Amino acid sequence: MLLSASVHVQLAGETDFAGFRARARALLARGVPPDAVNWRTHTGPADLFGNAEDACTPHMAMEAVPAAAVPVFFVALCEEVVLHSDPQRFALLYRLLWRLAHEPRLRDDPLDADLLLARRMAHAVSHDMHKMRAFVRFREVPDEQGAVAHVAWFEPMHHIVEANAPWFMRRFTQMHWAILTPDRCAFWDGAALRFGAGASRAEAPAADAGEALWLTYYRNIFNPARLKLASMRQHMPRKYWHNLPEARLITPLAAEAQARSGSMIEQPPTQPTRRMVPLPVHADAAPAHGTLDALNTALQHCRGCPLFAAATQAVAGEGPQRPALMLVGEQPGDQEDVHGRPFVGPAGQLLDRALRQAGLAREALYLTNAVRHFKFELRGQRRIHKTPAQREAAACAHWLEEEIALVQPGALVALGGTAARSLLGRPVAVTAVRGQWLAREDGRRVLVTWHPSALLRMPPHEQPRVFLQFAGDLALAGGAHA
Ligand code: URA
Repeated sequence: MLLSASVHVQLAGETDFAGFRARARALLARGVPPDAVNWRTHTGPADLFGNAEDACTPHMAMEAVPAAAVPVFFVALCEEVVLHSDPQRFALLYRLLWRLAHEPRLRDDPLDADLLLARRMAHAVSHDMHKMRAFVRFREVPDEQGAVAHVAWFEPMHHIVEANAPWFMRRFTQMHWAILTPDRCAFWDGAALRFGAGASRAEAPAADAGEALWLTYYRNIFNPARLKLASMRQHMPRKYWHNLPEARLITPLAAEAQARSGSMIEQPPTQPTRRMVPLPVHADAAPAHGTLDALNTALQHCRGCPLFAAATQAVAGEGPQRPALMLVGEQPGDQEDVHGRPFVGPAGQLLDRALRQAGLAREALYLTNAVRHFKFELRGQRRIHKTPAQREAAACAHWLEEEIALVQPGALVALGGTAARSLLGRPVAVTAVRGQWLAREDGRRVLVTWHPSALLRMPPHEQPRVFLQFAGDLALAGGAHA
């Protein structure tokens, strides 16, 4: 039944994803077109909409409406877009839901304007989350019991405080902290996360001794010879400067840079006092953790190579134990690094398509990577994937070996050369052995195939042929170990 009158939908708050989902499903099932729906996140003046009722309460949605089949990628997209500050985001998402239900080919259209806009919004949200993680600066204050608490002031662009707080909780578990922002505040007391209404900047504490120390440190590590102001502004956009204590040093330090780098060049060279010792990397020597949980907890503390320093987190494998297949990729990409899960970005979407084509269910497989931290270089605002060095892959090998021992897969699939080398312990030319079963020293079988990112980088005219090879290899692996 098509409703012609406008439907006003009142959500419980700016980030009410559950409310949006329940109502959107109900509206879709009742045939209410997107332009008949008016989405609101807070109650406006009483007369604005008269006495218009929310036409679709979650209660009704749950009782009367069969669940619509919503593509998994869209649910993940919604979860991010809902956090965007654009007031039209819920209208956009409902329009997309409606269109996905009525235009089955939409999901495969990479140029659709609505999908592109939603993806851009999701990207802006994850960028903002990333910046918050990088630029929150805590200051020490005594709490009511006289102990030390840490308080930070931050001004996010989007509604990300609740979604980002668990990351701060994991990172700063031992501290009691509060992050104050204009719309929402987050509090961690060592036991529970709480959220409250927004605060004003005046409520944030003034500079403390820790901050003076940080400024001294920043002044000392500032290398005038490496100063690239344009790139610095890109990574640390000016809009964040007023809350960053070190930002006020940038202008005077930059002004002195030329003179300081001139005098650095005139100095005689310093003699290194310590030789860099290569990392000992022996899978056998690594401690055993006994369970996947223990392994993944320890993984978050991995300092086996320098990649941990720039990555957001280590990305553990995921999937059931004793699966028919364990798929091993190279390393987490940008999205995986942010979400802490393997294969959730563009390569993961391509992998999902190939798995569908091969008749394999992703949930039945175990997905992991040879290297656990994202290696990238910054180009402007973008983090561009860099292939891990052999030394980095070798430093990670013991995580993979222990994971294989704990997960006990029926067989292994190496996605690309880095995974193949880590699994087989020798360099492997993917094009030479693709689609073949090879044996590891422990007797386990490894099928080598393309890495989905390699397909994404190929010229478009080659992609369909290689995609069929890729899906065919996966089907072969699945068929042999069903
Ligand atoms: N590429 C990989 O190899 N692994 C991921 O998890 C994502 C992209």
